[in-house]
Amino acid sequence: MVKDYDIEPMFTEEELDKKIRELGERISADYKGKDIHIVCILRGAVVFTAELIKRINNENLDIDFMSVSSYGNEMTSSGDIKIIKDLDEPIEGKDVLIVEDIIDTGKTLAKLVALLKTRNPKSIEICTLLDKPERREANVNVKYVGFKIPDKFVVGFGIDYAQKHRGLPYIGCVKNAD
Ligand code: IMP
Ligand code: MG
Repeated sequence: MVKDYDIEPMFTEEELDKKIRELGERISADYKGKDIHIVCILRGAVVFTAELIKRINNENLDIDFMSVSSYGNEMTSSGDIKIIKDLDEPIEGKDVLIVEDIIDTGKTLAKLVALLKTRNPKSIEICTLLDKPERREANVNVKYVGFKIPDKFVVGFGIDYAQKHRGLPYIGCVKNAD
């Protein structure tokens, strides 16, 4: 298939590493004396989650995974979420930290947080690597944000375009070549 777009670098490996170390330090301090139950949102947040947990100093950190549908192969939001894979463990009484790749309209997370709150966690916070505040349509409280970015479509570091480019070690912006 002919690739009809370019990928322009936005954040280098070094910039990502530095930011993730900072987030890890903040989270380590905020959860001192508490357990952390990480909820990684598949599939985009896998790389970020893996890097982040290495930077969190907490012996009682554990991790679970959830998959919800948002975008298909399109660059626009589907507007609704569906649970593809639910958590393996109950979250009742736990300090839950949702780890997400990117928050766009916020609709996915707003619905997900509402759903997880019905399971009575002790607390629930969100950590996202990227945030597109200009695009926000739903109200979500995001405690930890790596980078705020403009309304551009990005790939790499776990984030895909039509399931491609997840393995890029940096974050790039998709540009039409023509
Ligand atoms: P929201 O419900 O509009 O906030 O959708 C968020 C989800 O859409 C993210 O978790 C990503 O999976 C996907 N998404 C949003 N923006 C981008 C992007 O620029 N590149 C790739 N995926 C994106
Ligand atoms: Mg996602």
